Formats: sequence, structure tokens, C-alpha cells
Amino acid sequence: MPELMSATEMSAPMDISVPNPGECNLPGQDAVFSEPPVGPSAPPPPPPPPPPSLSEDKILVSVEVLLKPSSTARADDVRSAVERMLEKRSMSYTDGPIPVPMDDAVLVDNVERICICDSDVWVEKHDVLLFWQVKPVVHVFQLSEEGPCEELSNDGQLASFNEWILPAKEFDGMWESLIYDSGLKQRLLRYAASALLFTEKGVNPFLVSWNRIVLLHGPPGTGKTSLCKALAQKLSIRFSSRYPQCQLIEVNAHSLFSKWFSESGKLVAKLFSKIQEMVEEENNLVFVLIDEVESLAAARKAALSGSEPSDSIRVVNALLTQMDKLKSSPNVIILTTSNITAAIDIAFVDRADIKAYVGPPTLQARYEILRSCLVELLRSGILSDSEFQDCDFPSFTSLREQLNSLVIPEAAPRLNLCKQLLAAAEACEGLSGRSLRKLPFLTHAALANPFGCEPGKFLHKMIETTRRECSEIPD
Ligand SMILES: Nc1ncnc2c1ncn2[C@@H]1O[C@H](COP(=O)(O)OP(=O)(O)O)[C@@H](O)[C@H]1O
Ligand SMILES: [Mg+2]
Repeated sequence: MPELMSATEMSAPMDISVPNPGECNLPGQDAVFSEPPVGPSAPPPPPPPPPPSLSEDKILVSVEVLLKPSSTARADDVRSAVERMLEKRSMSYTDGPIPVPMDDAVLVDNVERICICDSDVWVEKHDVLLFWQVKPVVHVFQLSEEGPCEELSNDGQLASFNEWILPAKEFDGMWESLIYDSGLKQRLLRYAASALLFTEKGVNPFLVSWNRIVLLHGPPGTGKTSLCKALAQKLSIRFSSRYPQCQLIEVNAHSLFSKWFSESGKLVAKLFSKIQEMVEEENNLVFVLIDEVESLAAARKAALSGSEPSDSIRVVNALLTQMDKLKSSPNVIILTTSNITAAIDIAFVDRADIKAYVGPPTLQARYEILRSCLVELLRSGILSDSEFQDCDFPSFTSLREQLNSLVIPEAAPRLNLCKQLLAAAEACEGLSGRSLRKLPFLTHAALANPFGCEPGKFLHKMIETTRRECSEIPD
């Protein structure tokens, strides 16, 4: 069985403390410890702490390398080429793509994109991450273009589950598009990394208990389902050396409670025997997504009160028993979502180790979501920006700084535009992430002259549209 990388090696940069730039050892420079003065009555001095090794000092930053669909190169070869390239360059690390170097034939032929991930946690706290502070952890992957494989139930009407081979083309960019300013995404990633590591190292579950069940709950439209899928995709990339194959099974709980109840028991059995098959292959990492688990609890309750066929209780119970069985497999992660925040009466959800509340976006998240929409509209030419050549807007943090500092006259028009964007974000309070992502479209549709619209006018209309949308939210 291949060795799993240690948790710190994997890609959880937050697990390592960042050295204070003043205290940090430069490569090739040893730490110097001064001896404390020792008086006659002083107790013997404690032994000096061992000098930190360089690798411990470094911050691990994930570098994701997407292979072209046509590439047949070995992942190891590409990884080495990228590592060599990164060693040669003295760059600072910030999240986002870096150009594929034209002078490296292996990379030019095989690589579609190189992206730095997760450095933003550090960058926000410490301004810049310089190359010597960083140990890049390179993940090479190729996207599956197969699309979901739908399993139809016998009546041919309702799919009881969808299956994707991960990493899938459809989920590309989803993780990055989800914006939370509470560190939620990093927390989920670290949680899953620890859970997989504990399992891999054979930690005795009677002594230390943990499980691989995640529950995301919160109001509709806050990105829970998307986040589950994006998390599965991310983990499939980050753990590809341990688990070369990954699948995501999305169980359609609603379809299991179709009016063809007599079929449902069979569906559950069929579904889980398929999942069990996948799980038996130890190089497979299987994600099972059960969306809106509250529908299971509701069905059970309704059955108990007699308003639903009693078959449904059997289906729910069958499902829960199967989930419980599945939990003991080391290579399964169960992802669940719920739109209700009140306690859900379902045993396995109760035992979820990570229960994260996913709320409506904060001001910062709203600004960032709208900013990403605006950049996309500029990129695609829906909006035209004659005054400014680049489609860039400052991040929320740097806008805050700019607003607090002296403005040079040339920068004033751009800053005004950013202030408008901020005003739009402020006006959107209470809207879900889903509504926010629709807002630019609704705004465009509301424009009297939608051709070649300028960002300023567009933002003005957006604030108007927002007010209308907010007034239509039911209490
Ligand atoms: N925090 C967020 N950041 C960016 N986009 C979001 C956010 N929350 C929701 N969205 C958008 O809303 C869409 C729908 O979210 P979804 O995952 O269906 O939400 P839920 O499952 O919570 O109802 C997402 O695909 C995404 O485009
Ligand atoms: Mg959902």
C-alpha cells in the first residue's frame, strides 16, 4: 500500500506556523541561540530548543497542475518539471495562475494551467510570501470529461443517483468560485485531510474517535451542495497520489421516495451494492453526497404519523443502515447537506464530525462575488471599459486600505467605480450567494441600452435591481 503523505506534507498550510520574517532562517543560514547568563544561584538553564529544521519552517503551498486532455505524460515527470521550474524562479506566491514557461518542452506540450492555491491565508496575514519561505507541493491532475453517469430507476423516470469520475471537468473552478470569508473552505479541507490520515495510519477508533461525515447546513442558496461537490473535487486532486481513482456519487434522496415505493427498497440495495463495490478497491476514494438529508427525516416522520406509505420508513431505515455500514470503510467520505438548521433526527447526521453552518454571504464575500461577476462581464465583452484597460478590481481588503489612504488624482475615477461596487455589495445584504450570482444577469436584462454598457452605469442599475430584489424577499 503506498504511503500517505504526512498531514503537513499534504497541503494544509495552516498546520504550520509561519516564521516571523525577522526570525526566519534564510536558506543556508543556521539559527543562533545566545546563552542565558547563569548566576551562582540560578537553576541549571533549560537545554536550548533544537534548531528548527528548514523544512519545518517553510510554508507548504499547493500548486495544482492541470494536464491537457490530450496529454499522456506521466504525472511524476510533469511534477518534477514544475518543481524545477519553481526552483529556478524567484517569485512571490499569491493565489492564481502562473504562466506555463515557454522554454520547457515537457510543460508546453502537456500542461494547460498551473495554479497556486491556498497561499491567500498567509498573504492576508503577512503581506507577501516569498519563494524562500515556501515549499511548493505540486499536484498534477487531468480532468475527466465523461460527465455524470445517471442511473435510472426501473420506471425510467427518476435517477436515483448520479456518478462522476473525479476530478471532473464540470466542477473545474467551482471551489475558487465559492467565496466565504470565514475560513470555511480551509477548515473543510484540513478536516478531510486529518480524517483520511487518521484512517490511513490505523489510529484505533476506540481510543480516538473520528469519522468521515460532513454536514453543511444553512439557508437555501448559500452554496452547500456546490461546496460538497467542489470539496470532493479538491480532495481528489490533493490526494491523487494515494488514491489514483475517485468517484462522487450523488444520491437523489427525493427520488428514493417516489410514488413507486415498492421499488425504493430495491433501489437503495442496488445503489449501495454499487458503492460497496467501488469501496472494496482500496485505491478508490469514494464520496457519497446526500443532499437535503432533512427529506429523509421528514419521510420517516410522515410514515410514523401514518400520512405516508409505511414503505417509506423501510426505505429510510435501509438507507441509514447502509450508510452506517459504509462508514467503517476507510476510503469513503460522506457529505451531507441540510437546508434546515434545527436538529435533524437522523442518526448518522448526529454523528457527523464536522457540522458547519453555511450562512448568507458577509459584506466582504458579497463584494468579492460581485467583483468576480464584473470581471467576467468585462472579460466577455458584455461590459466595456474604455477608460481602464485591465479588467481588474481591487480585493475587498486592498480597497479598504485604499479608502483609508491618500488618493492620487489619476486613481480617483477607478476608486469611484470600486466605491460603487462596494455600495452594491452593501445593498445586497440578505441576498443568498445564489441570488447574487444571478444579479448581474437581471441587471443586464433591466438595462434600457444593454450594448457596450460601461461599468459605472451598470453598477448604478445593479443597485436599483438589488433594491427591487430585496424588496421581493419574503419575510
Ligand atoms: N458563498 C458563495 N460564493 C459564491 N457563490 C455562491 C455562494 N453561495 C452560493 N453561491 C452560488 O449559488 C449557487 C447555488 O448554490 P447551491 O450549492 O445550490 O446552494 P445550496 O445547496 O446551499 O442551496 C452556486 O453554484 C454558486 O454559484
Ligand atoms: Mg442544495
